[in-house]
Amino acid sequence: MPPPLTPPSPGFGLGLRTSHYQEILATPPADTGVDWFEILSENYMVGGGKPLVMLDRIRRDYPMAMHGVSLSIGSPGGPSDEYLRELKKLAERVQPLWVSDHLCWTGIHGTNLHDLFPMPYTEEAVATVARNVRRVQDYLERPILLENVSSYLSFEADTYQEWDFVAAVAERSDSLILLDVNNVYVSSVNHGFDPHTYLRALPAARVRQIHLAGHSRQDGCIIDTHDQPVADPVWALYAEALRLFGPVATMIERDDHIPPLPELTAELRHARGVAAAVHAERAP
Ligand SMILES: [Fe+2]
Repeated sequence: MPPPLTPPSPGFGLGLRTSHYQEILATPPADTGVDWFEILSENYMVGGGKPLVMLDRIRRDYPMAMHGVSLSIGSPGGPSDEYLRELKKLAERVQPLWVSDHLCWTGIHGTNLHDLFPMPYTEEAVATVARNVRRVQDYLERPILLENVSSYLSFEADTYQEWDFVAAVAERSDSLILLDVNNVYVSSVNHGFDPHTYLRALPAARVRQIHLAGHSRQDGCIIDTHDQPVADPVWALYAEALRLFGPVATMIERDDHIPPLPELTAELRHARGVAAAVHAERAP
């Protein structure tokens, strides 16, 4: 029998944050309510010390996904050989569920600008990203997931809609998609498009993970701040994503105003509830 297009989902995860280390280690894994953790790869691409000690201890009890912020897959030259070497070394240590980064650019000529800059949605950009992704996947010997970023401007040169661009990159490079539902919502409000059109355009078999996060309203637009609970319209869009893509691994990201662990696991329970309700709708 051929393997399924999409492997079974590992369930519901959280971003691993240093302020939760001790509580995670002090709680039996069956009691945390977290199935897996997503680590920020660059925090552990270090020579040694406490980060790797804690990583190894928590990895013993939980599957982990690796999520990067500096691959700069959209830069003409792509990531440096040195960056890829360190990323692969970490992947060999962690044996992650998967490795992901963002569909964006983060630097140029070897300078990391430490932000996720949007791509122009052009044929040239699809070709550039696809070439870079193939190089990265060949080197890492695994497919990577690329996440849709939120954006606050668009380029006059755009010839693709964002959703067609995301789909074209995935198909052309044979890579997978990390669908950030909050980012789709944020951009849909800021650019004035229908988020359902976005979701319906994505190749379902390539959507391997979902991010959920909070946002803030500022001066007539909304900003992807990751410092709030997930908003109601994002929960509704998440349910729609599950209807379209099935039981995709889901993870909640909180990067600022990080609350105690139980507050995030309660939000994760809400995600499980949304998924269970969608599953019940789909049952005969
Ligand atoms: Fe995200």
